[in-house]
Formats: sequence, structure tokens, C-alpha cells
Amino acid sequence: MKITDRSERDKFYNQALDNTETYWKNILEDYSWIKKPNRIKSGGFHEVDMKWFEDGILNITENVLDRHLNTDAENKIAIHFEPNDPKKNSIKITYKELHQKVCQAAELLSHKGIQKGDVVCLYMSMIPELLISVLACARIGAIHSVVFGGFSAKALSERINDCKAKMVITNDSGFRGDKEVPIKSTVDEALKTSDHQVQVMVWKHSGQKTSINSKTDFWANEELNPKTNHFQATPMNAEDPLFILYTSGSTGKPKGLLHTTAGYMIWASETFKNVFQIHSPNDVYWCTADIGWITGHSYITYAPLIQGVTQVMFEGIPTWPDAGRFWQVIEKFKVTHFYTAPTAIRALQAFDLSFVKKSNLSSLKVLGSVGEPINEDAWAWYKKEIGNDKCPIVDTWWQTETGGIMISNMAGVTLESPCMATLPLPGVDAILVDEKSNLLAGPNEGHLCMRNPWPGMARSIYGDHERFIKTYFTTHKGFYFTGDGAKRNEHGEYRIIGRVDDVVNVSGHRIGTAEVEDIIDECEDIVEAAVIGASHPIKGQCLVAFVIATATSKKNKDDLLKTINQDLTHEMGAIAKLDRIYLVPGLPKTRSGKIMRRILRKIADGEKDFGDISTLLNPEVVEQILKQV
Ligand code: WT7
Repeated sequence: MKITDRSERDKFYNQALDNTETYWKNILEDYSWIKKPNRIKSGGFHEVDMKWFEDGILNITENVLDRHLNTDAENKIAIHFEPNDPKKNSIKITYKELHQKVCQAAELLSHKGIQKGDVVCLYMSMIPELLISVLACARIGAIHSVVFGGFSAKALSERINDCKAKMVITNDSGFRGDKEVPIKSTVDEALKTSDHQVQVMVWKHSGQKTSINSKTDFWANEELNPKTNHFQATPMNAEDPLFILYTSGSTGKPKGLLHTTAGYMIWASETFKNVFQIHSPNDVYWCTADIGWITGHSYITYAPLIQGVTQVMFEGIPTWPDAGRFWQVIEKFKVTHFYTAPTAIRALQAFDLSFVKKSNLSSLKVLGSVGEPINEDAWAWYKKEIGNDKCPIVDTWWQTETGGIMISNMAGVTLESPCMATLPLPGVDAILVDEKSNLLAGPNEGHLCMRNPWPGMARSIYGDHERFIKTYFTTHKGFYFTGDGAKRNEHGEYRIIGRVDDVVNVSGHRIGTAEVEDIIDECEDIVEAAVIGASHPIKGQCLVAFVIATATSKKNKDDLLKTINQDLTHEMGAIAKLDRIYLVPGLPKTRSGKIMRRILRKIADGEKDFGDISTLLNPEVVEQILKQV
């Protein structure tokens, strides 16, 4: 079912709320099932046991691949792979070829003993073999857990141990800009601290010399059977786990969010169709995310392929060899639908406009934004300079937890409004509540929550359902709490303000301040640290720490910053690096001993009005800190 105008949107939006069963029953007809479900929705937020399409049986890869075989889409290009280096050739993969490659990889995984329900971790460059391997896992019912290739060995090791992965799939090394990124050697490092035996499947990509442990490692390319054309997909129950994806929260270690099969598939696919409105078989879609994040799961690996769309996949970065790289790729493949993050837009906006003007961008029809609030300036530039004032911008608000887009305009169907995600999609029962969980009506500002389950939502945190309940369903009892604050206008349109918890959004990546603080606190020079997100012109937010050094520490501020950043890079990855630190004599605390981050955020952003600080245990410390900054 495709929504093509505003009145249809309203009709289906109301139907999905008032007559949920009918709405989804019609939609499931558009998918391939081994056994079509009769039950649509059961369980709910009360017990936190949501289930969708529960008695259905399917394999998601039959929807991604097999259903295009023997149709017009069979010989259509599924993927144009554009390597990092523009001098190297791009690679075309048709739907038929992709099906065959996934079948071969699935057969190999199965041959290596990977079975339904086993967890397989993927730590790879942004190359077709990553997408193929993810789908190969899904084909045999293994639970994939992709770890972004920028995470450190330590972070990878923690995830491998947490999800008890039986295998890690990786590649030799990759390329990002002028850097060669070690991948397999990071896996080797991570596995030194593994608490169980792990097999390692390695794809050849860079051709760099790579160490192979003959007991545990093998080359995928050497062991695949190139003659295999088909490998039977494993029948999965609708609620069988499909993947785990780690994300940061306001407390503790990253949590492995668990997504299941049918609901996730339908949510990713339906939202993609309605938001992007890809109508012509010649349209070319490009999402610049990495498969290591949820955007690359839902809107690269699954939804576009389910919809039979041709897409671009890119290994490189926007600014190498120069700041025109994205625009050249758009021209090269005549990209019609382009989906990127505000941080990339702001970074490219900072360069001379001639980098844009060198490329012909007239193929573009729709532009998308995701990951963080987009500021007016970046929105206007994207609209005018990239979209030539003719392309709608879809501002898509969603989260790792939601599985797919929740609030967004639909290109050409519902109106855009600068910097606003606008309207909830059909199936989304968005509400605003105040701090005491009272429902707010009409135009208002508050905590963004969901009142009812939707098919694509995460079902649990892997191995810790209690934490799932505690994180999302206790702040506002009976509702799913997103962690975001939002404003709603008189038309029911939403503007997302940003996180109201201790999560920082650095260049669209979610970082928990508690996790960063724990690492800094371990530094021998540090007594205590408080980490906050400060405004940053390109990254949106950046990490800033207020630290109390030990009396014996001989390091100055710059040395401390250097040491701490080394630790953070080692423990988490370069994305957790601090932009700056302040050496302070104390931290503002409440009487119950909690750090008042609100005040620190204001100090870091240069604000002077701190509101009421009389409730602080140590109000004098604010003055002392101000002297240091
Ligand atoms: C957080 C989720 C959604 C995939 C990428 C990030 C922020 C996301 C928007 C948007 C304003 C946005 C929210 C959200 N966010 N999209 N269009 N406008 N804020 O997924 O890492 O799970 O992060 O990103 O704060 O809670 P994620």
C-alpha cells in the first residue's frame, strides 16, 4: 500500500490508530510469507511483551531477494558500489547476482556450523560483502550483530562477549579517505580478550597481507562454492530475533537492542516507501550511512532492496579527495533520492560552493536528513544549493530502538517545514508528556513518548529484559519514552529539540556521557569527571569534560586532554574523543550527590544565566569553575 496524497495519509493514519488490525492486515498482503499470519498484534507496553504477526512464518531474505527473481527486477541493478578511491572502478550487482552471492555466503556459514539462533558479529568496512554477509546471516536464521568499523578493539571485544558471538565476519582492511583502516587486525586484538572460542570469516577487500589463525580463521572468498545458485532460506517465526544492534544510553555499558523479524521488516519497508516516494524504476537511491548503524540496517540493507530499488553504496568519506566527492557520486549514478545526516551537510557547506557547482545535480528529486536536529542554515543550504529549490526535504526522526522512521514528512505528499520532522507516520501514536507523565494536549512542549506499540520497535535488550523495561517504560509508566524532547504546533507537527537524558549526539552518533565518564575516571590523573555535550557548528554537539585532577598530577590541561583522548580512543573509538576539557576544583552537585550537568552545559556554551543554583550542595563551585573557563 503506497500513500500518494495528504488525504490518503490522514485516512490511513486514522485507520492505523482506530482500526489497527485492518490496516496491517492489508499491508501484510504485500510481503512473501511461508505462512501468512492471522494474528496481527498482541501484548503491549503494560507487560512489555509486544508481538506482531505472531503466527506468521517467513524469511526476510526471501522478501529482499527471492521475490524479485523471475520479475522485471531480476536483472535490475541492486547495488552500485562506489569505492573510496574515485580512480577505482565501481561495481554493479544485479538482484539476481545479489541473491546468488547471499546464497553462497549462507551456505558457507551453514557449512561452518552456524545455525538458527546463533549470534554472528560483523566488523567490516562499508563494502558489498558486509551487506551480503548480513543477509546471509538472516537467510540461515543467525542473529546478526554489526559493530561499526570505527569502534576500538576493546569496544568490539565487549560486544562479542556480551552477545556470545560464535563467529566474527570481517575483511582484511578498508579505505576511508587517505587512510587505510585496519579491520582484521582489530578483530585479532579484540579476540585476545574473548571469553569463548570464536570463528573468524575474512573477506578479501584491500588485498593487504593479513594474519590468518589456522585454527579459527578462514577466507570466505576461497571457501565459497561459486557454483551455488540457490540456498534454501530457513523458515523463521515472525517474532524470532533478526538482529542485535548496540547503542548507548544514559547509564552503563551500551545495550544490545534486539529486533525481531516480521514487524521490523514491514516497518522498515513501509516507512521507506511512504517517506521517500520512489516511483520510477529508474530512480536511484543513496543513503550515506554506514551499515554499522541502524540507518544502514533499515534503509540500506533491508527496505530499499525489499522495494526493488537501485541504490548506491559508498565506502569513502565526503571530503576526500576533495569536498566535491558526494556531488560527483550523485552525478555519476544520477542519484534521485539522497539521504544523509545534518553533520555531513554542515561539513560540506563550510567549503567553497564551487565544489557543489562542479557537478550536475539535476537528477535529484528528494533529499533526506537523519540522525540529529537539522538547523535552519543547513536546511536552507541543502534545499537551495543541493536540491535547486525543487526537491522536498524529508526530515526523518527515529531511533535505533524504533527500527524505522517514526515522524517525518512524506516527499511530495505531506508538507515540509524547515527543521521540523512534522507528522507521525501511520501506526505511530506519538504523544507529549510533562515531567510528571501528564499528557499534554494541543500545541505544547514536552517529553516525546509513544502511547502504543508499533511493529518495528525493539522487543528487548539482548540478555537483559529488565533493563529494557527500566530504560524505556518506567520514566513515563505505560508509555515508551524516547529520551527526546519535542515541540508540537497547532497542526500537530513536531519539532525535535534533542535528548533530555545524558546522551550526547556527536555528528549523529549517540554517546552516553556515563560511559565516557567511567573511562576518564579510570585515568590515574583524574579524581572525577563530568562529561556533557556542548554545541558545535559542524558536529551538532561535541564532548566536553570538566575534570578534577589528582593533587599529585603533574599534567597541564593539554597533556591531560591528550592522555584522556588516547584512553577514549582505545576503550571506545575515535568518535568518543573530547573536543576540550576544563580543569576544575569541584563539580556542581545536588544534595543527593548528582552532578548538575545542566549548569555545566550552560558554562560550556558560554551562557551566563544558570537559573536557580541555591539547591546545590556547593553553589560556590560555579564561580570557581567560571574563573577557569
Ligand atoms: C536519536 C537516535 C535514526 C537513525 C540515526 C540515529 C536523534 C534522529 C533525528 C531527526 C532530530 C533526530 C534523536 C534520537 N535524531 N533523527 N530527524 N531530528 N533528532 O539513531 O543513534 O539511535 O539516535 O537521534 O535524539 O533520539 P540513534
